[in-house]
Amino acid sequence: MTPRPLRERPAWKALSAQRDAVGGRHLRQLFADDPGRGERLTLEAAGIYLDYSKQRVTDETLRLLVSLAHESGLRERIDAMFRGDRVNVTEDRPALHVALRAPRGASILVGGQDVVPEVHAVLDRMAAFCDRVRSGAWLGHTGKRIRNVVNVGIGGSDLGPVMAYEALRHHADRSLTFRFVSNVDGTDFAEATWDLDPAETLFVVCSKTFTTQETMTNAHTARDWSLAGFSGDARAVARHFVAVSTSAPRVAAFGIDTANMFGFWDWVGGRYSMESAIGLSTMLAVGPENFRAMLGGFHEMDEHFRTAPFERNLPVLKALLSLWNNDFLGAETVAILPYDQYLKRFPAYLQQLTMESNGKRVGLDGRPVEASTGPIYWGEPGTNGQHSFYQLIHQGTRLVPADLIAFAHSQNPVGRHHDMLVANVLAQAEALAFGKTAEEVAAEGTPGWLVPHRVFEGNRPTSTLLLDRLTPAALGRLVALYEHDVYTQSVIWGIDPFDQWGVELGKVLAQRILSEIESPAEPAPAHDGSTQALIRRYRSMRRK
Ligand code: F6P
Repeated sequence: MTPRPLRERPAWKALSAQRDAVGGRHLRQLFADDPGRGERLTLEAAGIYLDYSKQRVTDETLRLLVSLAHESGLRERIDAMFRGDRVNVTEDRPALHVALRAPRGASILVGGQDVVPEVHAVLDRMAAFCDRVRSGAWLGHTGKRIRNVVNVGIGGSDLGPVMAYEALRHHADRSLTFRFVSNVDGTDFAEATWDLDPAETLFVVCSKTFTTQETMTNAHTARDWSLAGFSGDARAVARHFVAVSTSAPRVAAFGIDTANMFGFWDWVGGRYSMESAIGLSTMLAVGPENFRAMLGGFHEMDEHFRTAPFERNLPVLKALLSLWNNDFLGAETVAILPYDQYLKRFPAYLQQLTMESNGKRVGLDGRPVEASTGPIYWGEPGTNGQHSFYQLIHQGTRLVPADLIAFAHSQNPVGRHHDMLVANVLAQAEALAFGKTAEEVAAEGTPGWLVPHRVFEGNRPTSTLLLDRLTPAALGRLVALYEHDVYTQSVIWGIDPFDQWGVELGKVLAQRILSEIESPAEPAPAHDGSTQALIRRYRSMRRK
């Protein structure tokens, strides 16, 4: 059944009425009126404890948000995604990343064919390859062991691998060095390889399409760099290059033997691919067993999302709270603040996942969406952010809801560090919610003129996510949580979270401008006055 237009759904209307009644109440008041909310507005599932009591909601707001999910057809849309319907409407294909972590023996059909055996066949090939590299059975062209792995890819073919490598570094084989090249800026390649020996270096070229300009340029540069180390002997490619792609013909055309290719499928979106063969570098780093444990974590969250009632469903609740902050309280961003140094690339990873997915202005019907979509995700690990941008969150004029992510156990227990770290997470959530009143500041003997500067208004909403420790399984659960959070929000807005047409225009213009800035003759004016002048200026600066 097609849901009613967003603003005509009864729950949307009731939430709009709630906005002033609840959204205007201070968290101090909400806690004073309902002291039990700190225990009650929490949820534990799939190894994640979520405290959402510091969100500016009441039980009634939550009830209405859950009704909104029902009125938006979320149940049906979840089932549609899991059964392989073509939920990626504008590209007319399924979005079946959940099949990538389905256990052996499960069955998910695409076009009448069970894809789970194929998924496991690729995982088995990846595992066999990784075992050979990690054990030293796979040797380079001159018989040396592989010591360095360079992942070449961009977007989903980079951010997932680099985030997972950093997150799981504690579990990685430290005798191998990992580097990640994504930017077409030659500096990225130069800095990633300057100290590496080609005879000990394996390149993993990751590209779903195997056409992406940045990746193809870097892959060609990598091949030149590698072959220069073998006096141009092209046979070395077979020992020093593997590819991950959906396109065997393009991999072969590049010169990589498809025996050294690990495939995946067009029903895997780039930003939903870190647990497919795109995760080859992750598996090389942490080994097949840890990689499978990560898939287990993903699957656990998938099952929770698929089966739990919405009011006890972590991704659904997270999504609804985010939507409340964004569409009803007017927040424009979400700060992702992991209190774990290993998650330093997690905010960057989430930027692509959330913003490339939900940065859309038209709905599935091609008409403008009736609400603000995709908030801006950003962040840095705590405690570093506290000494940088938290000032604005605490005392600025904007509303910046935040997700605080913490672990009970450190992978590196050193003295009191971990307790200090966690004390900071809890302190920040408390300070953001409750602040410090003018009376409290004055009572400390602060001179009157200084009081306004030292007041903390509070009422800044946060969710605190507490996990046991950052294991591969925990990472899988965490990523799947955000994936399904994104999907849930997209369903309510009625947009396609699996396409990314917004990246196309810039790509086309860049190709055109490249030929103009490289052309020996002055190119005919083909752009607006500003772009034309910049092209002219760049050409003249390059001539000097
Ligand atoms: O930026 C657009 C995009 O298509 C992303 O969605 C994708 O992750 C990235 O480019 C890389 O694409 P590919 O894996 O095909 O090289």
